[in-house]
Amino acid sequence: MGLMDGKRGIVFGVANDRSYAWYIAQQLLAEGAECRFSHLPGEKMERRVRNALNELGLSDPKLYACDASNDDDLDAMFAKLRDDVGTIDFLVHSIAFADRQFLQIGNFYTTSRAAWNQALDISAYSLLAMVQRAAPMMPEGGSVISMSYYGGEKVVPGYNVMGIAKAALEHTTRYLAAEMGAKNIRINSISGGPLRTLAAMAVGGIGVMFEHHAKKAPLKRNIEGEEVGDTAVFLLSDRASAITGEIIHVDSGYNIVGV
Ligand SMILES: NC(=O)c1ccc[n+]([C@@H]2O[C@H](COP(=O)([O-])OP(=O)(O)OC[C@H]3O[C@@H](n4cnc5c(N)ncnc54)[C@H](O)[C@@H]3O)[C@@H](O)[C@H]2O)c1
Repeated sequence: MGLMDGKRGIVFGVANDRSYAWYIAQQLLAEGAECRFSHLPGEKMERRVRNALNELGLSDPKLYACDASNDDDLDAMFAKLRDDVGTIDFLVHSIAFADRQFLQIGNFYTTSRAAWNQALDISAYSLLAMVQRAAPMMPEGGSVISMSYYGGEKVVPGYNVMGIAKAALEHTTRYLAAEMGAKNIRINSISGGPLRTLAAMAVGGIGVMFEHHAKKAPLKRNIEGEEVGDTAVFLLSDRASAITGEIIHVDSGYNIVGV
């Protein structure tokens, strides 16, 4: 018996076998969930995601192309998903993007309007856009999670405009949770510790962040992807049936330490 037996959902954000979404999918599959996946449009992107999912034992994963900054793409993707499965129980939002030019230490003040809008659009608004389309496919209720980071609460040099996007994502989580509760749809976010992924490597000073985190966190170490996967499964399962609008830190306790 798995925690997610009989549950089906869509996972956004697998880029490769180091993505947070990959670890989340790994744990979801281990607990019996049926997962469908999105990838950025393009053959190369599709191949990369397919290969990563093959490693999870999915020989023919069901994939949907979607650029989350494009409403037409989102409409088409959710329409296809609805045609294929009818209803879903969960949605994983594990995507973010900001122009790396603006993710360097000391240059937050140079952020252009275009870079700001793009970062907030892809990394925060997209959660709202997905829930708008997923909610009608969750007639009995459902559970949605997104991935945040401490840089949305406090200043983390180099995280810059992505920190603004995470602040927006976290508060979008709360506003969405308040409205979607009446439909028994829960919306939560995981604030994960730093993990060596493609997205993380675009952030200036990330190496120092890992060292600092391991030294300062109460557990005296960085986190493993599986640990976020486990928390994701809990939040997406019925075990978390009274939890909504929360930002759960999976960060070895880093966020509680002042000095
Ligand atoms: N790695 C970390 O240290 C860390 C820590 C906390 C939170 N997070 C968050 O975890 C989430 C996943 O990132 P990751 O670290 O696994 O990196 P990743 O690079 O593996 O994943 C980022 C994903 O975002 C997708 N994406 C980017 N632009 C998109 C668009 N326009 N439409 C659809 N998808 C798009 C990419 O295709 C990729 O799959 C992000 O929200 C990130 O901010 C990461």
